[in-house]
Amino acid sequence: MSEAVSPPVATPGWTLPATYYLDQHVFEAELATVFRDGWLFAGHSYELAGAGDYLLFTLGDEEVIIVRDEDGLLRAHHNVCRHRGSRICAEPRGTVRALVCPYHQWTYGLDGRLRAARLMGDDFAKNEQRLTPAAVREVAGLVFISLADEPPDFAAAATAFGAQLAPHRLEHTRIVHRASYRVNANWKTLVENNRECYHCRGNHPEFLESNFEYGSHGDLRRSSTYDSLLATAYERWTADGLAPDDVSFPDGQWFRVARLPLRDGFRTESLDGAPVAPPLGEVGDDPGSLRLIGLPTLWAHANLDYAVTTRLTPIGPSVTDVEVCFLVAANAADDDVDLDRLTAVWTVTSEQDWQLCEANYAGIRSRAYRPGPLSPVAEASVQHFLECYLAALG
Ligand code: FES
Ligand SMILES: [Fe+2]
Repeated sequence: MSEAVSPPVATPGWTLPATYYLDQHVFEAELATVFRDGWLFAGHSYELAGAGDYLLFTLGDEEVIIVRDEDGLLRAHHNVCRHRGSRICAEPRGTVRALVCPYHQWTYGLDGRLRAARLMGDDFAKNEQRLTPAAVREVAGLVFISLADEPPDFAAAATAFGAQLAPHRLEHTRIVHRASYRVNANWKTLVENNRECYHCRGNHPEFLESNFEYGSHGDLRRSSTYDSLLATAYERWTADGLAPDDVSFPDGQWFRVARLPLRDGFRTESLDGAPVAPPLGEVGDDPGSLRLIGLPTLWAHANLDYAVTTRLTPIGPSVTDVEVCFLVAANAADDDVDLDRLTAVWTVTSEQDWQLCEANYAGIRSRAYRPGPLSPVAEASVQHFLECYLAALG
């Protein structure tokens, strides 16, 4: 980041100075560093099952077409025509046989190679033109892209996500509900809020029906009830062929995967603990709740019967779009899916969180705002996120 836009120095263990949350220059620097240099959750393999299935991934000025080619390979191409630069795909998702630019109909194969271009003269080297690729990876039903010129290693995340998420068979699911929100808050307040359960007791009664406050990364609180439940659950999960290791941001990396037990009598994250859909994959009778984090834009839960993914898209310093997707087994009949019960916990919990973030952000905008101290007991993961963020921002 240039000197001209350098924000004040942040104090470890405290929230950031207001500039980080408010300033347009900081936001633009984030797009050019934090978001460009990492791996970003883009969608679900299920949405890209067949040849020609595509979805758009948009972040700031960048837009990428993620498409399955005829060989089953997932490709990512910048949505920028090589003729005069027009966007090619306009709809957020769909199925195509080729990528045809609407401006002058240059036509690209799913592999990004230019196949046809009218009236370009005899000397036009069609074969030298192809859409600019972006890096794309797929692991256990989740799709990630990187906008970096040299994407960071993905192998460690693939191993961690793959080992623990694969039994839920997310690639054999379907989205039964997609909720979109526009939250009037800086994206970092949403991540900070996600990284602690300090706020749960006062705000999330529905979430705490099935969940404990314990088990979050960086939360030192303990209870003997939870610890003995966790020990028993680890034995059961191991016997059920699940790999229950807690892999939380190893070596300061961007991902976490951890399986947590639910309260006694709760087989899933529903209001009464009873399943809301047929089982997902091969996860035994009581797999608890698998938590996945992909900083800076993804968190997800995979349960016995459904999964829920949350993806953030920063729009500006004060606006963040959120998409929450609920997935059930692909072969689950509609009659076997109770959509109201399935979405009950996460719809209300998500909306409670957006209100908290908007109230938090309203306070940060005030001239009375000063950085505040994080709890060393319950907010160490917020601190971890801020350290990762500041390092990425440079
Ligand atoms: S800009 Fe795409 S064909 Fe002209
Ligand atoms: Fe919350």
